[in-house]
Amino acid sequence: MNSNILVIGGTGKTGRRVVEQLQKKGIEPRIGSRSATPSFDWDNKDTWVRSLEGIERMYVTYYPDLAVPGAKESVESLTYLAKEMGVKKIVLLSGKGETEAEASEKIVMGSGVDYTIVRASWFNQNWSESFFLDPILSGEVALPMSDVLIPFVDADDIAEVAATVLMDDTYNGEIIEVTGPELITFKDIIGMISTSSDRSLKFHEITLQQYVEGMRQMQIPEDVVWLIEYLFSHVLTNPENQVITNDVERVLGRKPGTFLQYVEETAKTGVWNTNIVLDHEPI
Ligand SMILES: NC(=O)c1ccc[n+]([C@@H]2O[C@H](COP(=O)([O-])OP(=O)(O)OC[C@H]3O[C@@H](n4cnc5c(N)ncnc54)[C@H](OP(=O)(O)O)[C@@H]3O)[C@@H](O)[C@H]2O)c1
Repeated sequence: MNSNILVIGGTGKTGRRVVEQLQKKGIEPRIGSRSATPSFDWDNKDTWVRSLEGIERMYVTYYPDLAVPGAKESVESLTYLAKEMGVKKIVLLSGKGETEAEASEKIVMGSGVDYTIVRASWFNQNWSESFFLDPILSGEVALPMSDVLIPFVDADDIAEVAATVLMDDTYNGEIIEVTGPELITFKDIIGMISTSSDRSLKFHEITLQQYVEGMRQMQIPEDVVWLIEYLFSHVLTNPENQVITNDVERVLGRKPGTFLQYVEETAKTGVWNTNIVLDHEPI
């Protein structure tokens, strides 16, 4: 059993896929998460040492997002502890066009530990494994900025890139920017999910302010409201985030998956056909 590789967030959207990719290479990584053994908790530094013992390479996803206050300090403490404990390579997952995340990138880049930064645009899986799933299940999707063009990227592609650069030192010192192969809008997405899942989803254009008020009415915690507002107002509208890159193809030698491929595969799982009754108005 090879456990000198650590995947922090190893049960999350990208982390669990990185674990699968490493397993395909015959590597059984250690998982860093609160539910893992040993447990790793970003909010409890006492848990970090046991997770880092004997580790040489690690993939780091911060929870919930590198943009939140305190992320930079946590990434800094973890990076220097890892260095002290003999970690030789760090792959940090970051967000494309997220200025706040760059502070954490710079810490890893300046640490003296070998590194690769994987900067991703918004994940396809936000629609099936994260905050856009509930509105889809409710049948009514109300979002601001419905015509902004976004190069959504598949978590499978991010994970394959991350697992590759984690094990291959050719990419040391690089920032790999991963996007999907096309720019698409929320309206396009609702159309594709409606067709593939045989649902008649309704889309409503609302303002960012209405979206934020809706979240507050649903008593979503204030730090989550802050994060989602930040992602819409800073990341979505950042022109840097509306560019397609060829880094997935450069690393994997194949093109990234299209959003339609993701939708068709995901529809087969039935995740968008679950009946739920929301205890709040859909946002
Ligand atoms: N979503 C996007 O569109 C997007 C785009 C660009 C970049 N990003 C970046 O992606 C990163 C998140 O990666 P992801 O989506 O792969 O992960 P994720 O699905 O958001 O994370 C879930 C993982 O984090 C663990 N976790 C939750 N709270 C934790 C805590 N307090 N301490 C330790 N582990 C904790 C969970 O396991 P346990 O519950 O067992 O602890 C699970 O393994 C963020 O830094 C974000 O900036 C996201």
